Amino acid sequence: MAGKTFKYLILGGGVAAGYAAREFAKQGIKHGELAIISKELVAPYERPALSKAYLFLVGTARLPGFHVCVGSGGERLLPEWYKEKGIELILGTEIVKADLAAKTLVSAAGQTFEYHNLIIATGSTVIRLSDFGVQGANAKNIFYLREIDDADKLVEAIKAKKNGKAVIVGGGYIGLELSAALKINDLDVTMVYPEPWCMPRLFTAGIAEFYEGYYANKGIKIIKGTVAVGFTADSSGEVKEVQLKDGRVLEADIVVVGVGGRPLTTLFKGSVEEEKGGIKTDSYFKTSVPDVYAVGDVATFPMKLYNEIRRVEHVDHARKSAEQAVKAIKAKEEGKQIDEYDYLPFFYSRAFDLSWQFYGDNVGDTVLFGDNSPTSPKPKFGSFWVKDGQVVGAFLEGGSPDENQAIAKVARLKPSVNSLDVLTKEGLSFALKI
Ligand code: FDA
Ligand code: NAD
Repeated sequence: MAGKTFKYLILGGGVAAGYAAREFAKQGIKHGELAIISKELVAPYERPALSKAYLFLVGTARLPGFHVCVGSGGERLLPEWYKEKGIELILGTEIVKADLAAKTLVSAAGQTFEYHNLIIATGSTVIRLSDFGVQGANAKNIFYLREIDDADKLVEAIKAKKNGKAVIVGGGYIGLELSAALKINDLDVTMVYPEPWCMPRLFTAGIAEFYEGYYANKGIKIIKGTVAVGFTADSSGEVKEVQLKDGRVLEADIVVVGVGGRPLTTLFKGSVEEEKGGIKTDSYFKTSVPDVYAVGDVATFPMKLYNEIRRVEHVDHARKSAEQAVKAIKAKEEGKQIDEYDYLPFFYSRAFDLSWQFYGDNVGDTVLFGDNSPTSPKPKFGSFWVKDGQVVGAFLEGGSPDENQAIAKVARLKPSVNSLDVLTKEGLSFALKI
């Protein structure tokens, strides 16, 4: 049975989808040409809020407050906006089959959708402890955080387990942001992660020392160098204990697991070229299949600045890649050419009163500068990464907007440095004079 046909179809209703819709509207589309299909029940929102203000006691974020594009200072796209623009939001609809040759998607309920141009924006899913066969990992009150439904369940558990004990498994983004959020909610928090320091994918030992010290001063216990190997539950199936590989056992009323994400590419396995775990694209986010684009977390794209192809699981890229793909689709229709995507990696996080930003590449030698004492009333410190005599990456905690812009400029321009000692001494002032 023939289904609905759209000129432009976005699969996934997350950050990239929302920013793509705004760009389509800017470029000009007719009513009924564009649809977004999402398994979530709500219009695209700024996902980063889920691990931050969504869990706060004061200044709590709730929809419709954080629909895209407020996260980048733009207009908030409420469901009415899509209606006004003639964009169909097909929510609560999971696509379970994609036939790229026939340009057709099929939903779990058996609806079919046809398209002329497809943008794949399915994002990532969480890696689960049950994927590694950890015993008892399906007990109640063991949470993962990806979508708003997950956040709602966690909020309910926080209310139900007032002043209880929380164990956070993982020392990455989720681990650090969720430990802070649960501590603010007066839970007794213990973090567990296998590495010698937190966020090892990005942080140096020196950077991590500050955050671990700061968290410890807030009363968060940190157990490093081991992993959770099992959970026990009480008679109602609720988690009660976490067993660690080193033999320790931790009491727990709530467990939050953040052990990484996995891009959602399964629907397209075998029908589109993949690389580095994602869907391979060019600088316009065009995949190996004509009229099919991939953006956000799922895209493996050319990072011009480093002459390498990479995948990025952060919001700034989700927004920008979506806009680039839409511009490319529109330019192609008009026989025009647009500039290649030239992305400068930008990652950030916020927890407690802390806020850091990182730009560029974290490779090569590092220097640490500034006041990184965890007990400092106003900590401000950072790191530079130096490769082949050039500064290629910069991290700053506690920076002002101007200072953050300065480190971004450094990472983009990759200035030369003669001595790491001088760079350490100059610290932030090195960036401010570039
Ligand atoms: P996103 O995950 O946003 O959207 C994918 C959408 O596709 C979802 O709506 C999903 O339901 C839907 N979907 C998937 N498969 C489907 C199917 N088969 N059928 C229908 N729908 C389907 N980054 C950052 O730089 N700073 C930050 O502070 C944070 N904070 C943060 C907190 C939390 C809790 C998470 C989970 C992630 C972050 N991130 C972040 C990462 C950032 O949010 C992420 O990189 C972007 O949301 C990626 O945008 P996408 O649109 O690619 O995927
Ligand atoms: P992550 O990759 O940042 O961190 C995973 C952590 O879990 C690492 O420290 C890892 O070594 C550890 N780990 C792995 N296996 C473990 C085990 N068995 N037991 C204990 N620890 C284990 O991933 P995440 O924090 O889960 O985040 C998921 C996704 O959400 C990522 O795409 C991330 O970019 C995104 N996110 C980003 C932000 C941000 O940018 N501020 C915030 C939240 C989430």
